[in-house]
Amino acid sequence: AKVAILISGRGSNMSALIEAAKAPDYPAEIVGVLSNKAAAPGLDIAASHGIATASLAQSKFPIREMFEDTMTQILESWGTDIVCLAGFMRILDESFVDHWLGRMINIHPSLLPTYKGLHTHERALADGATEHGCSVHFVTPGLDEGPVILQAKVPVLAGDTAATLSARVLVEEHRIYPEALRMLANGMARIPATLH
Ligand code: GRF
Repeated sequence: AKVAILISGRGSNMSALIEAAKAPDYPAEIVGVLSNKAAAPGLDIAASHGIATASLAQSKFPIREMFEDTMTQILESWGTDIVCLAGFMRILDESFVDHWLGRMINIHPSLLPTYKGLHTHERALADGATEHGCSVHFVTPGLDEGPVILQAKVPVLAGDTAATLSARVLVEEHRIYPEALRMLANGMARIPATLH
């Protein structure tokens, strides 16, 4: 399967997917990386691997759907079958989500359905949670609400800060995201038919 990755920043999950896809038996190939921020450090990393890149400034698209329509045109020009959101910090409109339904996944730094949205590590610490983690899920119109494909748990340790906790979670993100993409690409993970 041909995979495009959407990023907004450093791209460490993107890098994990690129590395995994180098294995000869991996069922997916990374064909392009698209950012909504021209300065995203992940774009240079992708380019250094010889992967096509594009950036689209949302400010250039006064009509919201034109941004997503242009993204879809770029993704289709790469022959994209599957879209991976990896730190893509923009909520996608419903027509885009519908277009890629069942073929678009996201990595989220919490044990969904707990802590949808932002600042997940801070919220877990404020709650005194003893466990935290990350989830890879299908993208559906509700933010961080789609069916989960894989999760990984980490302990919350005494003295943790958002920085130490997020670093522990990130190690697991880099492990489960390539695994979940493998499951989607080889047909082991499917969005429930009721959502189609
Ligand atoms: C990750 O924590 C991811 O879970 C969240 O945004 C962060 C992106 O980091 N959605 P990176 O760009 O993959 O390094």
